[in-house]
Amino acid sequence: MPASNPLSVLPTLEADLARIESLLADSVRSNLDMLAEAAAHLANAGGKRVRPGFAIAAAATGHSSARPADSGVLMGGVAVELVHLGSLYHDDVMDEATTRRGVLAANQRWGNVVAILTGDFLLAQSSIIAADLGTDVARLLGETIAELTDGQIRELQDTDNFDRTAEDYYAAISGKTASLLACACRIGSITGQLDQPTTEALTEFGHSYGMAFQIVDDILDVVATSEQLGKPAGNDILEGNFTLPVLRALRSENGDQLRSLIEAGLTAETRDQALILVRTSPGIADALDAARSWADKASGAISNLPDSPGATALQAAATHLVERARAPLE
Ligand code: IPE
Ligand code: IPE
Ligand code: MG
Ligand code: MG
Repeated sequence: MPASNPLSVLPTLEADLARIESLLADSVRSNLDMLAEAAAHLANAGGKRVRPGFAIAAAATGHSSARPADSGVLMGGVAVELVHLGSLYHDDVMDEATTRRGVLAANQRWGNVVAILTGDFLLAQSSIIAADLGTDVARLLGETIAELTDGQIRELQDTDNFDRTAEDYYAAISGKTASLLACACRIGSITGQLDQPTTEALTEFGHSYGMAFQIVDDILDVVATSEQLGKPAGNDILEGNFTLPVLRALRSENGDQLRSLIEAGLTAETRDQALILVRTSPGIADALDAARSWADKASGAISNLPDSPGATALQAAATHLVERARAPLE
């Protein structure tokens, strides 16, 4: 994770995440060379490790001073990162993405079939770990994968849909993204053996943070470059995925012009014109406001937890999130 990781206010985080790296590398091994290579491809390429970080920080809310995470918490974090990784392999097939985490996307390197099967393998590895962590964790991961699929299908159903509402968008991102951030926090709480009210508060934090996180990702798709993101920028609009800033732009003053451009079938050049129209519309500021209000909701969900380095770290993450979307604008 980058040095600027806001969770780093938890002093034990760096050492815990280093242990996550080696456990993750162990969990993607296969006797079949090609599968081993394809499965390790994105794990080795990095990523922010937000979800294992949240599992660790959530568990740490149960202790008034920092201490290394228990092995169950670390394995919970690995299981969640494996679900995330598997979903990225599948997502890049769906979105016809060319790059991911600054390297070639697996579908680009090995083709769609290998990318799909490798995604399945990673989900299976997550299930094997979950079985050792108990029935509550195994059920939680199964339910989360189901929600993720629900969100991805909702998004797919709304491809090229100019009538997509903000509510449709929220239902899709709740499934495809917020469910996994909620799961990360919940797994940390369960494996950290925290009480039920704390588990519910942390789950709500993860869900609201996840809503803000996807809105920020969708703003970045419009305002940042592919180099900054390590994945193709401007891909959502090209794929007919009208995200919150685009939906707001379509209903603004230059909305008809934007709609005509998209309806004509976007090329690389007209895509850039469309992105400029979105950037100069009120869509970005509106989406930033929406992200800020979800981040505030996340913060409020854990405001009654006792003081701890874990709670401080999660609060810092919520505060920092919207800054990520603002940075390319300045
Ligand atoms: C990417 O997630 C997919 C979304 C939910 C937006 P991340 O932004 O956490 O991706 P990595 O793990 O850092 O690559
Ligand atoms: C993120 O999907 C959610 C999942 C991977 C399930 P996106 O398609 O919005 O994310 P990026 O922009 O490709 O990372
Ligand atoms: Mg994608
Ligand atoms: Mg997608």
